[in-house]
Amino acid sequence: MTIIIFRRWVSVLYPILLASILVHYCRGNSDERKVHIVYMGERPHSPSGNMSSLLAVRHISLLERVLGSASLAKESLVYSYARSFNAFAAKLSPQEVEKFSKMKRVISVIPNHKLHLHTTRSWEFMNFSPGQISAQKEGNVIIGFLDSGIWPESESFNDEGMTPPPAKWKGECHNITCNNKIIGARYYNTGGMYDPTEFKSPRDAMGHGTHTSSTAAGREVAGASFLGLAEGTATGGVPNARIAVYKVCWQNRGCSNADILAAFDDAIADGVDILSMSLGSSVPPPFFEDAMAIGAFHAMKRGVLTSASSGNSGPTPATASNLAPWMLTVAASTIDRQFVSKVVLGNGETFPGIAVNSFKLNGTTFPLVWAGDVANYSGGSGVINAKNCLPGSLNSYKTAGKIVLCHSIVGDVTGVAMANGLGAIMFNPIPSVNDFAFSYPLPATQVRSGDGDAILDYIRTTENPIATILVSETWKDVMAPYVASFSSRGPNRLSPEILKPDITVPGVDILAAWSPVASPSGSPFDTRKVKYNVISGTSMSCPHASAVAAYVKALHPDWSPAAIKSAIMTTANVMDPRKNEDHEFAYGSGHINPVAAADPGLVYDASEDDYIYFLCKQGYDNTTMELIAGRSNASCNGVALGRAWDLNYPTFGLVVEDGESISTSFTRTVTNVGPPNSTYHVSVQMPSLVNVEVHPTVLPFSAVGQSMTFTVKVSGPKIVDQPIRSGAILWGDGVHVVRSPLVVYTITPNSMAALPFKPAEKIRFGDQPGRLEHEIVETN
Ligand SMILES: *[C@@H]1O[C@H](CO)[C@@H](O)[C@H](O)[C@H]1NC(C)=O
Ligand SMILES: *[C@@H]1O[C@H](CO)[C@@H](O)[C@H](O)[C@H]1NC(C)=O
Ligand SMILES: *[C@@H]1O[C@H](CO)[C@@H](O)[C@H](O)[C@H]1NC(C)=O
Ligand SMILES: *[C@@H]1O[C@H](CO)[C@@H](O)[C@H](O)[C@H]1NC(C)=O
Ligand SMILES: *[C@@H]1O[C@H](CO)[C@@H](O)[C@H](O)[C@H]1NC(C)=O
Ligand SMILES: *[C@@H]1O[C@H](CO)[C@@H](O)[C@H](O)[C@H]1NC(C)=O
Ligand SMILES: *[C@@H]1O[C@H](CO)[C@@H](O)[C@H](O)[C@H]1NC(C)=O
Repeated sequence: MTIIIFRRWVSVLYPILLASILVHYCRGNSDERKVHIVYMGERPHSPSGNMSSLLAVRHISLLERVLGSASLAKESLVYSYARSFNAFAAKLSPQEVEKFSKMKRVISVIPNHKLHLHTTRSWEFMNFSPGQISAQKEGNVIIGFLDSGIWPESESFNDEGMTPPPAKWKGECHNITCNNKIIGARYYNTGGMYDPTEFKSPRDAMGHGTHTSSTAAGREVAGASFLGLAEGTATGGVPNARIAVYKVCWQNRGCSNADILAAFDDAIADGVDILSMSLGSSVPPPFFEDAMAIGAFHAMKRGVLTSASSGNSGPTPATASNLAPWMLTVAASTIDRQFVSKVVLGNGETFPGIAVNSFKLNGTTFPLVWAGDVANYSGGSGVINAKNCLPGSLNSYKTAGKIVLCHSIVGDVTGVAMANGLGAIMFNPIPSVNDFAFSYPLPATQVRSGDGDAILDYIRTTENPIATILVSETWKDVMAPYVASFSSRGPNRLSPEILKPDITVPGVDILAAWSPVASPSGSPFDTRKVKYNVISGTSMSCPHASAVAAYVKALHPDWSPAAIKSAIMTTANVMDPRKNEDHEFAYGSGHINPVAAADPGLVYDASEDDYIYFLCKQGYDNTTMELIAGRSNASCNGVALGRAWDLNYPTFGLVVEDGESISTSFTRTVTNVGPPNSTYHVSVQMPSLVNVEVHPTVLPFSAVGQSMTFTVKVSGPKIVDQPIRSGAILWGDGVHVVRSPLVVYTITPNSMAALPFKPAEKIRFGDQPGRLEHEIVETN
């Protein structure tokens, strides 16, 4: 049985939603048929005939064989995926799941778990001016978004001056009007259940998909702001690229595996060039039991790079998701703009707080109370619940019209809003990082823990304590960039030698387009309607990376997904390890540098065969590989189980058993994508503990497309409890610097806190941290 726990502001909806979800999940006995995905690998090639309809027939007859009747088979089939790979979704009983799992040609049977979702100073901060390349080149690139849909009438999606979509495009628009900017829009909802606020169309009721797609590919809109805050020109990174919408996430219902896979099936066949996915699992299932890794694998085969958020579960180690090496996994870091909303007490004392606060109190002061003093005792609440301002814990007679001081670890003001409070000042009694700003449904701000104590002291020692909260101002954050505390951290739980996340990208307090029907703070108490909104999350950094991938693709249409990914990673700016104690586990290769990514000099390319070799080493067998590749020569013949050191990845990860000495050898191949005659020399930066030898040390290229191989021998003494030691291998030709971090670490109880894990049980989608953050928790 699964239940969904809603956190933060959504908690007020908890009783109602929990009831309906329990109905949804707990009906019937254990024999009840539930939606599962039966995944069978690559779509067979057909010299003649319509493979899609052929496969659909085959899916029905497979179901018929297992379920025993044609009508039952038809009734149970939910999706036939046949445009880009071979799979179907159907309602199956546990016995039927068992039968399918045993079939030789079935790779995996995946329960239909629910996933839940995970500016514009940001481009300037990356030294990038969107729209500098020819509109025609950029207009050939189509980015597909698997998200909560889009608000098509937003000014960010106007198609003024844009030509019709490229001829290769095979997509369609369902139930909204497309234009030359939004060229495709489909929606998927297997469950068939809709929140009352939802649209049965690709229209976005949540704001999230509108925000992500405009961040990547929105047009230039002057004078955009969130109710006057962060005013400026809003623009996507590739304002002339096309948007294709695949709505898979639904208000209060999350995003289902079966719908996600259906969206991949269509998007790949429709002809998207880049896929942007700001969602993920909190515990990543094995690659071929994960709809996103499966979809991204088939996308990679067709030359489509999937850019995905790494999740909002940081700073706990080993929390990163979307770990497949064929995906670009994106962490979130700060830009140099910080939203500060000050508290001014009656005695004139002023404290800076972090919040996106648009409410104008015009300097008027209001009575100030400590939440612990205004508990709703008759409602059954005591001081403990009240001081944390939990929903329902405050006495509305004592709270109405006042500013309430709350102890708040998670920054939830729902309790204050429910008790008609006028505003809230929050502080976490345990000193903690406060590196991104929330917005709230009422005037509110989050102050430092010590300042919270000082305000409480003022309340305690003053006869009629009063305060006001000021509208946010933007401050320059000179520490930027650093990885946000919420951004999920490595190491990689599935393949510890593949460093994840891959890259860090701005994802804190990003201004982008919004749905005018969606609450800007996410709270049902919020009645503001906005066209642009400021939010944070790896959901926000991912579309920035997708835009950079689209930009590289526009300039180099023939580059493979791995080449584009390598270009983005090896040109990244070096992050300061002193500001990021988790080093590469926080930021991967470093901070994205869009201009440099277009001209990397060399790339670490990889093809489907390379990933198959990698998967064989990870323990996948012949049959699985043949099915996934769709050809009988893709066997794991002669491949011994082992580490992933040889995958031609643009970073080097070395896991050493605790107490073992450091000793391994990596082989890598680089391909020249710069001038034909380029001679690269190696340099190594490594802390003294680790000895690194690269052979050869010079790579003299004489042609574009030429590849050369080198080895990296790493050795060192026995190490124990080594969280992370990092350096880098750099190839330089005097113009380009091709940088790959090299990381050595031991798996300690600390670095892999949650290992070993049970796959696919705890799934969540990372929206902005703590907002719309749902968890599915296994209760038995
Ligand atoms: C193939 O069959 C599918 C499903 O029956 C249909 O939607 C599609 O239009 C067909 N394609 C061709 C080229 O006939
Ligand atoms: C199209 O969207 C409208 C508005 O949300 C909805 O009422 C209608 O049912 C949708 N049509 C289809 C065919 O789903
Ligand atoms: C502050 O001033 C604005 C504009 O005059 C007004 O709309 C708003 O109601 C005032 N707010 C308060 C709390 O007085
Ligand atoms: C106290 O809580 C009860 C139960 O939730 C509620 O009915 C009542 O209105 C609350 N009283 C005040 C004064 O807020
Ligand atoms: C496998 O066979 C295909 C043709 O079916 C061929 O193009 C490919 O190069 C072969 N791959 C390997 C690794 O032998
Ligand atoms: C994998 O296939 C090859 C031939 O294609 C065969 O030699 C080998 O024994 C197979 N391995 C396993 C584990 O079945
Ligand atoms: C590259 O070098 C070769 C040999 O040194 C020379 O023949 C050739 O002209 C050079 N090509 C270019 C484009 O400079």
